[in-house]
Amino acid sequence: MKRLAIFASGNGSNFEVIVNANLNCEICLLVCNNRNAYVLKRAKKLGIDYKVVEDEEEILKVLANYSIDLVVLAGYMKIFSPSFVNKFERRIINIHPSLLPNYRGLNAIERAFNSGEKEIGVSIHYVDSGVDTGEVIASGVIQVGENDSLEDVEKKVHELEHFMYPKILEEIL
Ligand code: GRF
Repeated sequence: MKRLAIFASGNGSNFEVIVNANLNCEICLLVCNNRNAYVLKRAKKLGIDYKVVEDEEEILKVLANYSIDLVVLAGYMKIFSPSFVNKFERRIINIHPSLLPNYRGLNAIERAFNSGEKEIGVSIHYVDSGVDTGEVIASGVIQVGENDSLEDVEKKVHELEHFMYPKILEEIL
């Protein structure tokens, strides 16, 4: 069984959905770079080990200690150095709330909504050393309704993320 580490910095709804999906792997660890993140509470509740670490050298040690095969980013707000990415080539996966290559980077849903996009989406991709530039593995689309507010659209996007991420991870595994 592959050994996974999930990286998150904030809320952690994707983390929780992945843990609860009973994928064909061992979810060994949450790595978090924010000691106040709500995702830490979720890890405690779910009985998943967690480490709050920021430094890449320390992260590498933790990943080695846990013999991690695959790194899954779920709202992890930090860009890895090229050397870190090279060590885990095609073994780091991210989810981004846009139809890549459109709207890379922060506040993607809001920017797409404010640009009047009628279709907004979710992309799951391998991580390279750019910001949301790695090869796309899968994407999904939601329609923006005539009367949808930004909050409505965000809700639809997050629901799609929660459906897609476990499903695509299972396929990758
Ligand atoms: C998600 O929208 C994900 O696409 C983006 O960060 C958000 C994380 O949400 N990378 P959560 O912390 O899983 O609730």
